[in-house]
Amino acid sequence: MDFDTLFLRRKSVRAYEARPVEEAVKRRVLDATLRAPSAGALIAAQTAAMAAESLGLGSCYIGDIMENWEIHRDLLSLPRYTFPIAMLCLGYPTRQQRERQLTPRLPEPMVVMKNAYRRASVAELETMYSGEGYGTFVPKNDIENAAQALYDRKFGASFSEEMRRSVSSMLKDWS
Ligand SMILES: Cc1cc2nc3c(=O)[nH]c(=O)nc-3n(C[C@H](O)[C@H](O)[C@H](O)COP(=O)(O)O)c2cc1C
Repeated sequence: MDFDTLFLRRKSVRAYEARPVEEAVKRRVLDATLRAPSAGALIAAQTAAMAAESLGLGSCYIGDIMENWEIHRDLLSLPRYTFPIAMLCLGYPTRQQRERQLTPRLPEPMVVMKNAYRRASVAELETMYSGEGYGTFVPKNDIENAAQALYDRKFGASFSEEMRRSVSSMLKDWS
């Protein structure tokens, strides 16, 4: 697979073809993952994601695995002090998923800094979420800009509420 397809057209895949991933393909993904830098679980996950991608599979991270901690603990027989922070789904993408548009990214100067941290100007912050794909923002209540609208949508959602409850319940069990 060429560089552009692997890295520049990669997207999260949330619908898969109803066929199993071959054992040999899973083996290759696992072999690559086991060669990942060895101190970080998420680095291993990202290695698995890109290895899978290079073999024609799609993937999606599921941070929502942090919700319902008690259920996942029992389901996965997790010992005390073990908490899942991410799950990675893999499978062959449906045609619709292969063809769907890429999601937007923030402008490069907002993400990449050279040699030192650079605070964004107010003008830059105001344009941060105004690019193609972020939709047209309509001010309402005390929400003044698109960044606040995004924050409100994400952290005001019921899944966020459950994630806060679940993580807090897990931390109580640690003390
Ligand atoms: C740590 C992490 C956790 C994520 N958790 C979820 C999730 O729980 N559910 C989901 O549908 N997508 C999840 N995603 C995928 C993001 O929503 C996705 O990467 C983002 O919307 C950009 O879309 P793209 O990957 O298609 O470009 C997660 C991504 C990361 C890196």
